[in-house]
Amino acid sequence: MDENVRWTEPGCELKAELEDMEKRNRLKWMGHCLKYCEEIDSTNTEAKRLAASGACHGTVVVANRQTAGKGRRGRMWESPADSGIFMTFLLRPKVDVQKISMLTLVAALAVSKAVSEETGCICQIKWPNDLVMDGRKICGILTEMGTSGSQIQYAVVGIGINVGQQEFPEELREKATSLCMQTKTPVSRVKLIERVLEAFEKYYDDWAVHGDMRLLRREYEGQLVNLGREVMVLAPEGEYPGVASGICDTGELLVKTADGSVKKILSGEVSVRGVYGYV
Ligand code: BTN
Repeated sequence: MDENVRWTEPGCELKAELEDMEKRNRLKWMGHCLKYCEEIDSTNTEAKRLAASGACHGTVVVANRQTAGKGRRGRMWESPADSGIFMTFLLRPKVDVQKISMLTLVAALAVSKAVSEETGCICQIKWPNDLVMDGRKICGILTEMGTSGSQIQYAVVGIGINVGQQEFPEELREKATSLCMQTKTPVSRVKLIERVLEAFEKYYDDWAVHGDMRLLRREYEGQLVNLGREVMVLAPEGEYPGVASGICDTGELLVKTADGSVKKILSGEVSVRGVYGYV
């Protein structure tokens, strides 16, 4: 890659452009309150702190760098300055606890649409929380929640998109990629954030009509990289292969197994990988 090319805007520009974006925001509820952090432990953690102090539904936290970025399953999320999008949405859905994992699917759909529109490249969803380009991961989503008894106080949906990275550590090289590596052109983080916010508000409102995926299911399946592919289900009781045939209204992955039965795979309980590799 050309070392003289500026692949994405530095933090100071991101901050200024986000301020402009906030001023021109015509969305109904998304991003009316936006907090930019040059550096923070984790945007999810910051969003939880804001939730505890009463921040409203649709609050967005964006950081240029995270010092303790969190991935799924207790992993860390590499978050160097000026490289990626590290952002979290604070939401206050009025639904039961078991529905919160669907927000990951809603966010994945929004990122997939935004990335495809902004870059012109195909971006697909690896159920439930990864986005892939050319068979490699460009985005991960981590949804967490705060409850009081059985009541949801808030949900935070954290999105990490690899934008300007030019290389990855050895152990990720086969599995991860960035938008700039894929498109070979500079990518504006703020334009992409704006598109994600717009798409997320629309998809969230569709989801909230019934509190499930029935209005989004077909579109989601259209983006699903696993669709019709052999997958390996990694369940606590053991691994088994099958063919992914879609999702159900409640967001579980449908996997047809060798005996012809269709299993509903709940995110969080098991993970899914391709039989021949990551996808
Ligand atoms: C994963 O694929 O493991 C999920 C990664 C989620 C990373 C994002 S970056 C913004 C937000 N803040 C965090 O600490 N994590 C999420």
